[in-house]
Amino acid sequence: MRMVDLIEKKRDGKTLTTEEVNFVIKGFTDGSVPDYQMSAFAMAVFLKGMTEKEYSDLTMAMVHSGDTIDLSNIEGIKVDKHSTGGVGDTTTLVLGPLVASLDIPVAKMSGRGLGHTGGTIDKLEAVEGFHVELTEEEFTKQVNDIKLAVIGQTGDLTPADKKLYALRDVTATVNSIPLISSSIMSKKIAAGADAIVLDVKTGAGAFMKDIDDARDLAKAMVKIGNNVGRQTVAVISDMSQPLGFAIGNALEVKEAIDTLKGEGPKDLEELCLVLGSQMVVLAKKAETLEEARAKLLENMKNGKALEVFKAFLVAQGGDGSVVDDPSKLPQAKFVQEVVAQQDGYVSQIVADAVGTAAMKLGAGRATKESVIDLAVGLMLNKKVGEAVKKGESLVTVYSSTEDISEVEKDLLENIKISTEKVEEPTLVYDLIMEA
Ligand code: URA
Ligand code: CA
Repeated sequence: MRMVDLIEKKRDGKTLTTEEVNFVIKGFTDGSVPDYQMSAFAMAVFLKGMTEKEYSDLTMAMVHSGDTIDLSNIEGIKVDKHSTGGVGDTTTLVLGPLVASLDIPVAKMSGRGLGHTGGTIDKLEAVEGFHVELTEEEFTKQVNDIKLAVIGQTGDLTPADKKLYALRDVTATVNSIPLISSSIMSKKIAAGADAIVLDVKTGAGAFMKDIDDARDLAKAMVKIGNNVGRQTVAVISDMSQPLGFAIGNALEVKEAIDTLKGEGPKDLEELCLVLGSQMVVLAKKAETLEEARAKLLENMKNGKALEVFKAFLVAQGGDGSVVDDPSKLPQAKFVQEVVAQQDGYVSQIVADAVGTAAMKLGAGRATKESVIDLAVGLMLNKKVGEAVKKGESLVTVYSSTEDISEVEKDLLENIKISTEKVEEPTLVYDLIMEA
């Protein structure tokens, strides 16, 4: 087989066999296929697309390009949740303990990464003493004992995806459904998930700004999962405005604690119930979504979900008492209000711009070298659709410096107020299951 022939075949819109897809990925991983050929191949895929079988093959070829995590020593069906990324998305912190409280194993590998706030691990590190350096044995034992553990990135997972993503970034080939769907799904499958619930975001703060694109991506990922023997469902949810109130690391831990008690922001709670119900059904702990939702709500009300969160923090070296006293989380030096300049209704909170404002305060990493300030961030006091009076607080800003004029300017520009009444945006647009 020669790479040039496979590039030509894809360029002409023909379909590659499993062996041909494997050849491309194996060669790219071991270096026998150089970057310039892979770039041409990625562009051919971008322009001509791939069949469902081709991108399922591509996914599995990337899974097998490196290490895979074996979770077979953990009892039960391992269901993983993945979000395509948004602003102030506190769902992982809530869903882990909530789902685990129903005896469902949550064996989570997580990262730090770049973004408006830190990743799940950064957020959890706002709890004094918490760490993710577990051995494989400790990880397995903890999940079997308390049903929840979070470990940092271990092993060399999907190296082909890492290399290809870097190449796509500089060859204008990121935005391709076969390439995005195989990239995301290969990582989930390599991390050992038996079943997968996807939260595909749409709107200003999402990767997929447009709902039809989000739906196409969701469909492709659901097809991949089901083609390769991992039951997968997807929820399409709104990311036009940030989710919940908190955008920041310690602030989101506090928000997760409130939500686990059933006292969190309504949109965050609702999305957690929608995603959580899917996870519970896939884990076969309920027959229907209604039954699953009732069980999740019960464990919010009776304190079990919060108890699991506490046990999990303690098991990983953290100060579990933050659950009872969130004032023990890192506190920002300055707390100031950004107030409405006019009466009206909040008509837009541009998610990505508000996320960037939080990052400017130090809540997230702009580059790999950036150091996160766990205490800083934003708390939204109004969400889209709410009435507001001139002088009322729109956002509380938690900062390490007193001068927040630049962030204030960004916020006032991106939180729009209209004189006409505005509807609350739809939170969950669609559910994609196998046809
Ligand atoms: N996220 C991924 O992991 N891969 C992509 O290709 C795009 C977004
Ligand atoms: Ca939030």
